[in-house]
Amino acid sequence: MIQPYQGQQAQWRLTFVSDSEKAMTLTPGDGPCAWTVHVGDAKDLTPERLRRAAGKAVKTMKDLGGKTGVLDAAAVLPILGPAAGAALVQGAELALHEAPSYATGNPKEPITLWLDGSCDGLEEALRENEAVTRSICLARDLVNCPANKLTPSDMAAEMTREAEALGIQCQVLDENEARALGMEAFLTVGSSALHPPRLIVLRYQGGGNADPICLVGKGVTCDTGGYCLKAASSMKGIKGDMAGAAAVFGAVLALAANHVPVNVTAVIPSVENRISPDSYIPGDVIGSMSGKTIEVGNTDAEGRLILADAVTYAVRKEHAAKIVDIATLTGAVVGMFGFTTAGYLSNDDGFSAAFQAAYGHSGEQYWPLPVFPEYRKMIDSPLADLSNTSSDGCGTITAGLFIGAFAEDKPWIHIDIAGTAWVDSPRFEYQTKGATGAGVTTLYELCKGYAKED
Ligand code: BES
Ligand code: ZN
Ligand code: ZN
Repeated sequence: MIQPYQGQQAQWRLTFVSDSEKAMTLTPGDGPCAWTVHVGDAKDLTPERLRRAAGKAVKTMKDLGGKTGVLDAAAVLPILGPAAGAALVQGAELALHEAPSYATGNPKEPITLWLDGSCDGLEEALRENEAVTRSICLARDLVNCPANKLTPSDMAAEMTREAEALGIQCQVLDENEARALGMEAFLTVGSSALHPPRLIVLRYQGGGNADPICLVGKGVTCDTGGYCLKAASSMKGIKGDMAGAAAVFGAVLALAANHVPVNVTAVIPSVENRISPDSYIPGDVIGSMSGKTIEVGNTDAEGRLILADAVTYAVRKEHAAKIVDIATLTGAVVGMFGFTTAGYLSNDDGFSAAFQAAYGHSGEQYWPLPVFPEYRKMIDSPLADLSNTSSDGCGTITAGLFIGAFAEDKPWIHIDIAGTAWVDSPRFEYQTKGATGAGVTTLYELCKGYAKED
């Protein structure tokens, strides 16, 4: 954790300056370990730019063997205020947060950083940022965890341990409790696996008695594709198919740690999508908690099945006022937007506008997808209420619309982070190989936007 600088001995000094000539470059300053980090023109400065600059600077320091350093924010604090300090700290901490190695041998030496500079409100901004950054790192840790070390019940245990420590009310439903609720779509995917499914519910009540915003996150701890088995080459990342779950977990933790006055409930269906003699197969027709029937076109389109029941659970059991679902749902979104930008769609203009404001604050990149009436027909089935595959393309949109069919009349947003949740090579300077923690900050900002003012 980065502390305020109070004259400690430090090898390195990284001085951030705005400069229209040399954006995002480092130049040597006075002495071997003093560097100037150019962040671009003051008029274009954003917290995101500072996060990237800090990521680049501390990675450079680390590559050159630096162990202690000062981030000098004095020149950028007057431009963006306390947000500049928080962004530098977040960028630096995220850049240093790496996926753990299970290799035996010498542990890595830690790196210590301090932030130099002061302005009104800085302390408070750093305190808020500390909880948010910690939550992003916890989300990354869960996503980086191999599937054999994070089964659905392991995920439930990890999440409830962290959540309970912050006073969040936790409930974990096992397969019998899910069966009693009629969650057939959820159970169809996960109940034939050796490690049984769990529905994890985290209720943060910071805002009185108002109905909660429900954040529903896809928690597939491994997605082999089931009988529609994935090719070996696309199985490498299957442990990361619970990044939506990690995102909603991280957001709720950060809201609770910062005592944001809002009610938010995370609903996380967690399953393994595997093959066993009893697993579902294409052509099956299954039920769901909503009562709707579903024709299974492809067992690799498992995310929307478990999310459908989790959304129904959020509406009917948690009395959701609004719903966001977030998932590593489709390869198609990676084809459209690559690894830097997530796609989203919604049934409510006001909620969409609030989401836009949220990612405006967080600096994460999202792009809206159109919902034309003919797209809805692409998931019609000749023998059931819905099909879990599209008959006519539009893979990302139709996957979202499938889930939206279970949101009843609630304002709802669907977010597909299949491209942004994981990077084999970092796309932004504060990322490291593996999980990115995508979604945590934007969901945090979205919910914070609904905090009651008093
Ligand atoms: N978890 C995958 C989507 C995915 C793809 C995540 C790439 C991360 C990177 C999802 O369950 C899936 O397999 N989707 C299929 C759906 C198809 C069978 C309709 C896909 O996108 O190919
Ligand atoms: Zn799949
Ligand atoms: Zn999946």
